[in-house]
Amino acid sequence: MWKKIFGKSDKTNIEPGESLFEQIDRERLPRHIAIIMDGNGRWANGKGMVRSVGHTAGVKALKRTLKAAIALNLEAMTVYAFSTENWKRPATEVEFLMKLFSEYLEKEIAEMDSDNVCIKFIGRVNELSPGLQKQIADAEQRTANNTGVRFTVGVNYGGQDEMMRAVRSLAQDVKNGTLEPDDIDCKLIESHLDTRELPPVDLVIRTSGDMRLSNFLIWQTAYAEFWFTDTNWPDFDKEKLAEALLDFGQRERRFGGLNKKK
Ligand code: IPE
Ligand code: IPE
Ligand code: MG
Repeated sequence: MWKKIFGKSDKTNIEPGESLFEQIDRERLPRHIAIIMDGNGRWANGKGMVRSVGHTAGVKALKRTLKAAIALNLEAMTVYAFSTENWKRPATEVEFLMKLFSEYLEKEIAEMDSDNVCIKFIGRVNELSPGLQKQIADAEQRTANNTGVRFTVGVNYGGQDEMMRAVRSLAQDVKNGTLEPDDIDCKLIESHLDTRELPPVDLVIRTSGDMRLSNFLIWQTAYAEFWFTDTNWPDFDKEKLAEALLDFGQRERRFGGLNKKK
């Protein structure tokens, strides 16, 4: 049915009132989506408001998107909330964001738990405030046995930093004499990444028009599909997600091989 929408030209032949979300082909879903939630500041500025208002609205968009992922029973959804580079921002904005993460966990953890979501954090969590670290540990522990969507949040996360930590840990094993350099392969590297329990990323979504990874999941996106939208993150909703997923369903992934049909 979605062929009707994306088949030839563009989305102009969507019938009024027709929900894209209802048309998602559940057989063609990605296992793991990764979202760069960008554009909170631009959204707020565009409305003549301060950046923090955009971050608060961004939390609502995250809630909507996670609910949609739950409804689709996606295996994994990883979001970029704060990068290792975001410390460069004014202290007031950083403080606001940290408080927002803490409030988000406090408010949402019970519902995520009852939605069977398994939440994990990736990045240099040990550099966050002790209070936030405790909330993170409690949230992870509380939902550890949940079997629904694996919801991973990058906070103080950077892909290069993650690789560096993996390399250090492997080098330490070599130094200790428990690992031979020749035994280092891609699987072993993966097992030292923060995302070790997750499948590779199938689809990266970035909002707000910029087309870059900004140091997000640089290893895990080796064969990911990319989908960009001009929509700012606070305006993202399940229909936008559906647009991305319907587009993903049409992509031909070859992984370096050949198209089977040709
Ligand atoms: C994304 O929105 C949220 C974080 C990086 C924390 P931005 O804050 O980057 O918003 P823009 O890109 O400046 O509009
Ligand atoms: C990427 O957005 C990080 C997050 C969404 C948390 P940025 O706004 O920090 O990225 P750049 O600076 O535009 O590359
Ligand atoms: Mg940004």
